[in-house]
Amino acid sequence: MKRILVTGAAGQIGSDLVPALRAKYGNENVVAAAHATPLPAHVRGSGPHATVDVGEPAALRRALREHRVDTLYHLGSILSVLAEKQRHLSWRVNFEGLHNVLEASVEHDLKCVVVPSSIAAFGPETPADDTPNDTIQRPTTSYGISKVFGELMGNYYHRALGLDVRGVRLPGIVSWATEPTAGTTDYAVAIFYGAILNERYACYLEPDTRLPMMYMPDAIGALMQVAEAEGSALRHRADFNVGAMSFTPAELADSLRKRIPAFRMEYEVDPVRQAIADSWPNSLDDSAAREEWGWKPRYDMEAMVDDMLVHLKRKLRPD
Ligand code: SER
Repeated sequence: MKRILVTGAAGQIGSDLVPALRAKYGNENVVAAAHATPLPAHVRGSGPHATVDVGEPAALRRALREHRVDTLYHLGSILSVLAEKQRHLSWRVNFEGLHNVLEASVEHDLKCVVVPSSIAAFGPETPADDTPNDTIQRPTTSYGISKVFGELMGNYYHRALGLDVRGVRLPGIVSWATEPTAGTTDYAVAIFYGAILNERYACYLEPDTRLPMMYMPDAIGALMQVAEAEGSALRHRADFNVGAMSFTPAELADSLRKRIPAFRMEYEVDPVRQAIADSWPNSLDDSAAREEWGWKPRYDMEAMVDDMLVHLKRKLRPD
């Protein structure tokens, strides 16, 4: 049985990944590691947890040793918008933290390390439609640069040191378990809160800003599937495009209006987030992931909207 540690377990993806890993590998075998953000009750109460600041190599090593970890999912990161505001924090967590994780993983002889990348690893010179897996990557954000660093370092640690690092470039992730945070793509989560609670939402991106997106169950599937893939079949390692859907704020608003006719969308464009979104792809070519490890998403936009509304209504209005 695997012994898994998840950094960033209190974040948007960690809060959903930890329960999925516990369901598959046993509650006692999945350690939820967090630092600045407190773990949500359903994560804290269902298995082992640890306080790990990825900027502190000693704490990381201690957690790997004490919990006899053999597999690590490194989700701890500072998202795009916050990383622009807090450059030192971004450096410490997104760059040094990644380096600490890779070094500790070599030292503890881990079997597999999953390091998610992002559409943020691309930039304005990247072909924006059906972005190829292997293409120009010149990101213009601190977060995006750290993601290219993570991909290259992951591939390097695999080639030079035999550490099995794997990763997917996640699109914007839509989910209901945690509140939207400091991402550029988070409008696609916040809009559901606005629609359910107030029947309106003020969007910080232009109506026609197209971005690749994915519903959380598919993101969890991608992370767990790439970790389980047969290593000998992989030509890529830490840098797989994974696509699912692609939409604009106006298209998502139309889809919501079909279910909540009174819903009104307004636009209060934030130039910082708009510039970041404009530098990212519109859609991804994920044929490498499909060919090398059988990637196939389950949710399109309409199926995602239906499922989000069911779960978020239950969460926000339990009676
Ligand atoms: N969702 C992330 C962000 O917007 C991208 O990886 O920052």
